[in-house]
Amino acid sequence: MKTDAAAATPSDSRRPPGKLPRPNEACWCGSGKKYKKCHQDDDAEFAKQERVQLEAHRVRPGRVSPRRPVPEHIARPDYWETGVPGRGTGRLGRTDEELVRMRRACREAARILRLAGELVKPGVTTDELDAYVHELTIQAGGYPSPLGYRGFPKSLCTSVNEVICHGIPDDRPLEDGDIVNLDVTIFLDGMHGDTNATFLCGEVDERSRQLVRVTHECMMKGIEAVKPNRPVSDIGRAIEQHAEQYGYGVVRAYCGHGIGDVFHSGLQIPHFFDAKSNTRMLPGMTFTIEPMIALGTHEETTWDDDWTAVTRDLKRAAQFEHTIVVNDVGSEILTREA
Ligand code: MF3
Ligand code: CO
Ligand code: CO
Repeated sequence: MKTDAAAATPSDSRRPPGKLPRPNEACWCGSGKKYKKCHQDDDAEFAKQERVQLEAHRVRPGRVSPRRPVPEHIARPDYWETGVPGRGTGRLGRTDEELVRMRRACREAARILRLAGELVKPGVTTDELDAYVHELTIQAGGYPSPLGYRGFPKSLCTSVNEVICHGIPDDRPLEDGDIVNLDVTIFLDGMHGDTNATFLCGEVDERSRQLVRVTHECMMKGIEAVKPNRPVSDIGRAIEQHAEQYGYGVVRAYCGHGIGDVFHSGLQIPHFFDAKSNTRMLPGMTFTIEPMIALGTHEETTWDDDWTAVTRDLKRAAQFEHTIVVNDVGSEILTREA
């Protein structure tokens, strides 16, 4: 790994993750001394150096290539030209016939995500990944849902390191040690299928690898919490509980969402516990679970491009996403190949 922005110095490695003690509380090191008389100054100096490092290595916006054309014969979603999506049917549940089409869209999304992930390596630009996903989507007979959605300029979202989500593919070559999330959505036969995963580029430091592993676990725990007649808030509770054990931040500004004939329906699925999310899950409902988990703060800010969401402290974030359908006993993951 070249740019080891996420690695800890030796003095830091014994420090527990998450919150540090207050000045008059006992130091984390077990010396029995007050924190202010022990490691407080060291920690402050470490944090300062870390901020300088993160600032120096932060992802910078690159050049975005022109919009890729979609052949005439491909059926487009309503927003493709204006950017403004219609309301769709407004139903949260799918008919059996709709589910047949959703299964196809979701299976294709999973396949395209896997193939794009195989291309991740140092030197490849995110624009090249976008071109590949665009091509595969059209070959499958589908439209790349992100393209033109509320003005998004590309067919894929590529989110590197501290980018939380909605990164725009550009001419930045991936670097050894990067983590990169690829978020693929296809509109096929009138239905959207949405899935994403975070991939390791070359040799990635252990702290980032753990983040990626735990983020996947968070998604799976969220999926396991899906049960008919339970409120959707169960999902965020399960995710948050797992992330907290590692001192990670759970991004609150972006949620999972109902999906089907529309890309994002009115249904929101927070990834933290939110008592107000009392919609009951019912068999036939389709939605995504897509936790974004950060090494540091959950707070985010957006680049001037109005899309790219990054962590405020520039520490790394990871994400995984599946589209699922609620059934009589729990749920089924639709964005799978088999
Ligand atoms: N696929 C993203 C999601 O999981 C949404 C991307 S919107 C876009 O909800 F416009 F950026 F493509
Ligand atoms: Co989604
Ligand atoms: Co997505």
